[in-house]
Amino acid sequence: MKRVKLRKKSIVVLIIIILVVVIEIVNPIKLYNKYQLRNLNYSEASIENILKNNLKKEVLELSYNKTLDIVFQSNDFKLDNFGIYKDLTYYELDDYTKNVNILIEKGYNKEEINYILRSATNESLKVFLEKDYMENVSKFLEYDFAKLENMDRYIKYQNEHNIDKELVVIYVNIGLDKEFYKDVKTTNKFSYDMLVNKYNGVLEEFIPDNLVDVPSEYGTKQKLNEETLKAFIKMAEDCKAATNYKILVRSGYRDYAEQEKTYNTYLKTYGKTYAENYVAHPGYSEHHTGLAIDVKAESTDVFANSKESSWVYENAYKYGFILRYKKSDENITGIKYESWHFRYVGEEIAKYIHEHEMTYEEYYVRFIENK
Ligand code: DAL
Ligand code: ZN
Repeated sequence: MKRVKLRKKSIVVLIIIILVVVIEIVNPIKLYNKYQLRNLNYSEASIENILKNNLKKEVLELSYNKTLDIVFQSNDFKLDNFGIYKDLTYYELDDYTKNVNILIEKGYNKEEINYILRSATNESLKVFLEKDYMENVSKFLEYDFAKLENMDRYIKYQNEHNIDKELVVIYVNIGLDKEFYKDVKTTNKFSYDMLVNKYNGVLEEFIPDNLVDVPSEYGTKQKLNEETLKAFIKMAEDCKAATNYKILVRSGYRDYAEQEKTYNTYLKTYGKTYAENYVAHPGYSEHHTGLAIDVKAESTDVFANSKESSWVYENAYKYGFILRYKKSDENITGIKYESWHFRYVGEEIAKYIHEHEMTYEEYYVRFIENK
């Protein structure tokens, strides 16, 4: 009897031991936790870290959060920063967690970090992280055309100019806080929306796409980009139908050497200030793109007050042209009012600029640069 009892007891103990071992190894609770997190699509590496840090409940309440999935996978994960991580939008950037930690250490709050990361590229973030905490970053970075690398310039520009913050961002992005022709960008790539001005040039050897001769009835010995010429001819014919006079190309494409000649002639004749105000340096003239036209009226030599110009100012946008150097925009373009200089940008952009009255510089930094 006693033996049987004893045997029974040992079997029970054995079963208990086996059960404990099995529970320890299989760990059904852990399995269930994992199952729940997996169901939310968390990666295996994240799940381990979530459970290790006892954050399952919090994470489950938040449902799937890409930022959390990324930070939990990272060796840089810091428990103290969990409260901030969980409110961050994820942007694909190198060393995401490490960089967020640095921003937190510097004193940036959630909202600011979201703006910073949204505006950041890997390069601009690197530069930004080397700088001290900057107050009010969100007020500039709220615009999606704001650039993180320009942050300190925005702050400086606003301190020096009493203008709206949106304009601060636009003006600094244009480059207005810098001297003309210093710190320039140059390209060899043609596009219909390219920006050429005192901050953005083309290489000396740059040749526009589809350069063609302007037929002699529309101008003497001029060349233009083909699409630009077609649009101009249409405009010239419609102008004639409306006013009895057509318009002509006084000056179209000018290569580097030609622009240099033009600049030097003005320099000799009118002096440096005048030349700087009216003629772009070689490599920085829209004429080099084949997309710009100095328009001549058929009826008179003074374009500004002609019948043709009144019609053209009203209608040019329908053909894809904008008056590029307006009186009101001299501070932005760096060029004095030119009643005759039109730039082909295509109908869509021209219409927008016509309706919203802005410079091409402004349009460019708002809509094209970050495309
Ligand atoms: N006259 C314009 C600004 C040019 O030289 O391109
Ligand atoms: Zn011109």
